[in-house]
Amino acid sequence: MSRTILVSNRLPVTVRQGRFGAQELVVSSGGLVAGLNPLHEKRNGIWIGHAGEEPDSGSVAALAARGLVPVDVSESDYRDYYEGYGNSALWPLFHYLLETCEFDPGHFDAYRRVNEVFAEHVAEHARPGDAVWIHDYQLMLLPHMVRERISDVRIGFFLHTPFPSSEVFRVLPQREDILRGLLGADLIGVHTYEYADHLRRSLRRMLGVESRGGSAWFHGREVRIETHPLGIDAKSLRDRAFSRTADRTLANHKNTFGERRVILNVERLDYTKGVPLKLEAFRTLLKNAPEWRKNVVYLQVAVPSREAIESYQELRAEVEQLVGEINGLYGGPAHIPIHYLYRSISQEELGALYRLADVAFVAPVRDGLNLVAKEYVACRDDGGGVLVLSEFAGALSEMGETLRVNPWDIEGTADTLKRALEMDFSECSERMMPMHRRVVSNGVHRWVDRFMASLLNPIHEPADSPPLLEPEVLANTMAHHFARADTALLMLDYDGSLREFTDYYEDAIPTEKILGLLQSLSSLPGVEVYMNSGREREVLDNWFGGVGVSLIAEHGTWIRQRDEPGWKRMGAPPFVAWKDEARTVLNEYVDRTPGARLEEKSSALVWHYREADEELASWQALELTTMLETRFANEPVQITTGACVIEIRPQGFDKGRAYAYVKEQRGPYNFTLVTGDDRTDEDVFERLDPGNYSVRVGAGGSAALTAVASPAAMRRLLRSLAEMRRTAYGIDAR
Ligand code: UDP
Ligand code: G6P
Repeated sequence: MSRTILVSNRLPVTVRQGRFGAQELVVSSGGLVAGLNPLHEKRNGIWIGHAGEEPDSGSVAALAARGLVPVDVSESDYRDYYEGYGNSALWPLFHYLLETCEFDPGHFDAYRRVNEVFAEHVAEHARPGDAVWIHDYQLMLLPHMVRERISDVRIGFFLHTPFPSSEVFRVLPQREDILRGLLGADLIGVHTYEYADHLRRSLRRMLGVESRGGSAWFHGREVRIETHPLGIDAKSLRDRAFSRTADRTLANHKNTFGERRVILNVERLDYTKGVPLKLEAFRTLLKNAPEWRKNVVYLQVAVPSREAIESYQELRAEVEQLVGEINGLYGGPAHIPIHYLYRSISQEELGALYRLADVAFVAPVRDGLNLVAKEYVACRDDGGGVLVLSEFAGALSEMGETLRVNPWDIEGTADTLKRALEMDFSECSERMMPMHRRVVSNGVHRWVDRFMASLLNPIHEPADSPPLLEPEVLANTMAHHFARADTALLMLDYDGSLREFTDYYEDAIPTEKILGLLQSLSSLPGVEVYMNSGREREVLDNWFGGVGVSLIAEHGTWIRQRDEPGWKRMGAPPFVAWKDEARTVLNEYVDRTPGARLEEKSSALVWHYREADEELASWQALELTTMLETRFANEPVQITTGACVIEIRPQGFDKGRAYAYVKEQRGPYNFTLVTGDDRTDEDVFERLDPGNYSVRVGAGGSAALTAVASPAAMRRLLRSLAEMRRTAYGIDAR
């Protein structure tokens, strides 16, 4: 039976030295463990991760009994991987805190080594048919490393943090390694659409990997990128929150706090959680609303986290100083405004606090999701309770009824806290109940089931990855149909499909053989040949003027029928007022990048960099794409990146539109073959009517039905087709 092998940096329990010398196992903190533990407990798999202290034989046995496999990593490597690259580079970067980042190359080396150790453990334990589910930013190289070592397993990856904007991600010195590592997975899951979009953009800008329909294509393999917001185990949470122990704790708290309202804060003491800003907002509330000074209690549970790291130590000092200041300012013998606990608490205690709190104040400066928000809502079906939630928490996308705050706006947040404290019961329950239903029904089990179903049953693979065929085989499949069709349309792409790329785009002149091939195709009875190209009219005229084919220039902007005298525009003249500004930008990048050139078309501009120094040019291309996307975001233009080109052209003009135009003007055809090699050709593939043929050149994701390996293979295919039709019509080859 296939199993699920979970892999995360931390095991759900941590081994530590107990008070009486023997080791003990304690539950690990954080959303990842909270989310995955129910899955592990229900299935018969194993969980590979770090155990904290090096486990002694007793602990190893105790871990093994729970299906937990500790990894064996040297202390110094683990430190540089965990405190270093994981928590001083990736963690702050992914939470947009660039000033906190430290990029030490030695830390990355350790990160790589530790990921390798994890890979060895996975290879040792995985069996054919298993699913390997890797978690979080500490193990982003692992999907690729596992794929290198074992086949016959499905590999999933889930990122529990935000995936930052590509503008921020590109700061990471090892960004390409990290992205390539991730692309070893079959399925990458993130919490929100925004993170998925950020990841896709980074893949495109940093690796040139294109995505289509939610999938990226890498070395001919499909990698799906999906949004699966993590849920909670509401039943188990509520069992504990409404247990006898919790009831007792709740009664004690009610006794202590009496009529005072409670604002609850629970988080690991992490600088992403915005604890100092929240305290400032509370201070402002007390300052601005004296009526609340003695009537509200601020309960802060700060769960110790990553205490060896300096930024966390500094945060603790800052928070404790602030708590002292505010209590000093607004407290008195009978009233302490802030109750501060620096420790973790049991689930029963936490449940009691959720039930007690009038307001849950969840205001991280950035958070992948935030389970505390969901847990609070799950415990509130009594109609009471208000959730104040940061707009920078991933959970917000599922919790629209909450009171939303920007934690940086301290005055605004203080006002919202006041509003929350004063909200009447009916508004509370109107907001709370829909969220409660959503959180309870979209629980962690559904999250697991959806992710696993998607990982184990790929839906798109056959359709999105056309089979790579030998041209002769392909010609045979078309032979019968092509030989008999009265009218046939061959709509061919040129660069990269019929002709290999050259360093200088002007040099990709058709060879005599290509011209001969086109001539022989266009002279076949009933066959119309169109070159559907992104090139300019003049170039196409010069190259193909004498071979009897029809021409389409500039991605569906112009057409010249072989039996008509001149070029015609397809549709109304496009809006090109943006061209002057775009030309200035592109020329700047031509100046800065030796070897790069600008091609001017009647309605488009193209920046070519095939002949420039690869490293410099790909860097400039990255910057240029960002710059164009930002600067022309509101213009009716399309920015496409292709094989060493960046093109900016009017929206609404594409090769697919040209195909539809030809079909309408000259069709119907009994047989159609369309070909191409890049994104601009996908528009044709997608529009092709059923029962016809589309062939992409090169492996990878495409809407084409079939693929061949190279332009040479494409030429062989076309030669075979010409030959077959000639034979069928009894025409002499000469
Ligand atoms: N939590 C915990 N120990 C505590 C308090 C809370 O394990 O003393 C749990 C809490 O119930 C929640 C998780 O830690 O499930 C925190 O997850 P969240 O997504 O809010 O933040 P993360 O810590 O993962 O950044
Ligand atoms: C977040 C991270 C997890 C991590 C948890 C606790 O939820 O996404 O990967 O396990 O915090 O942090 P720690 O460093 O103690 O494992």
